[in-house]
Amino acid sequence: MTPNAVITGWGMYAPSRVMTNDELATMVDTSDEWIVTRTGIRERRIAAEDETTTTLSVHAARDALAVAGVDASEVDLVIVGTCSPDYPLPATAVLVATELGATRAAGFDLQAACSGFLYALATASGFIRSGMYRNVVVVGVEVLSRFINWRDRNTCVLFGDGAGAVLLSASDQAGGLLGWDLFSDGTGCEGIIVPAGGSRRPASIETVEGNLHYIQMAGRDVYKYATRQLADSATKALGQAGLTVADVDQFVFHQANLRIIEHVERELGIPEEKVFVNIEKYGNTSAASVPMALAEAVAEGRIQPGDRILMVAFGAGYTAGAAVVEWTADPARAFLAPGEQTRLGKPRVVQPEPVTAG
Ligand code: ACO
Repeated sequence: MTPNAVITGWGMYAPSRVMTNDELATMVDTSDEWIVTRTGIRERRIAAEDETTTTLSVHAARDALAVAGVDASEVDLVIVGTCSPDYPLPATAVLVATELGATRAAGFDLQAACSGFLYALATASGFIRSGMYRNVVVVGVEVLSRFINWRDRNTCVLFGDGAGAVLLSASDQAGGLLGWDLFSDGTGCEGIIVPAGGSRRPASIETVEGNLHYIQMAGRDVYKYATRQLADSATKALGQAGLTVADVDQFVFHQANLRIIEHVERELGIPEEKVFVNIEKYGNTSAASVPMALAEAVAEGRIQPGDRILMVAFGAGYTAGAAVVEWTADPARAFLAPGEQTRLGKPRVVQPEPVTAG
């Protein structure tokens, strides 16, 4: 019998350093009022100097394993969805597996920008449903603060750092991943891009001087495409699961812009109270945003066994991903996590330290 792929563990980690909109307004020509009304973002987290994509991932993945009650030695595969890896090579997932003590696990990174977690979840489900693997750690993580031009107000106000993870396990129990949609359209290449540092434009003094190793974005174009595609991917994933919007108990959208979320909400006729939003605290954490929002939604008691969750994301490429999941785990298991954020879904109290611009 084909096993189901169910979420048995979950976890999140956000760096302790908070950067508020007011602090950004001391670095670029912007204001708290502009950022809040255009995006819904009030603050974001910034990784400490000694934190990397691997260290953030390990916090979140360790929590996911503890919540599931699965030892790292039982993990078959680690997939890390990220567009801000520790290195171009080796893969961050390999470093994460080693740090976790997942000594017999395979590991690879998956790059689908903000849709990375949902692409990774669908990939993990394929491995499990084929019978190849039983336990797959799926991480969505970013340290985008290292890829942002802190003098570019078009981008620096939007992004933040963080990690979220789930353990996807084989099960005879009903539930788990019921439907999905994965989408890509390379004609959107220029919409969100880091122009240099790859094979097309290798690193050189000129590329560094031209700030071409930072994220560039055509915000308005991305906005329009995102609203259309999020609704489309959500509808396709629901269709594949044989469900409608009315069958969904909790919607977990990629937290890129509150106005985008509200637009999709209206277009699909989703009641506001079913939509989880935490963008005000973290900004756009790209591949980390959906699993972080999922962990917080569980911590807030918004997700119960038997509930159907629709997760949808959109990102650079363009890419989009959507997944319908029937939740099967006991939310109280979050208390087994070593990380405070997974247990409580609340940010830690923090003392801001200065960030050097540029
Ligand atoms: N502070 C103050 N003013 C600003 C700022 C800022 N931080 N940024 C831009 N402006 C100005 C612009 O210069 C412009 O001024 P002008 O009218 O004089 O030219 C004005 O504000 C309006 O700019 P718009 O770009 O039209 O603003 P918009 O309402 O579209 O909001 C935003 C911009 C927030 C970027 C929006 O377009 C957006 O959210 N886009 C989608 C981003 C997204 O979803 N990304 C997802 C994927 S990310 C990934 O995959 C890694």
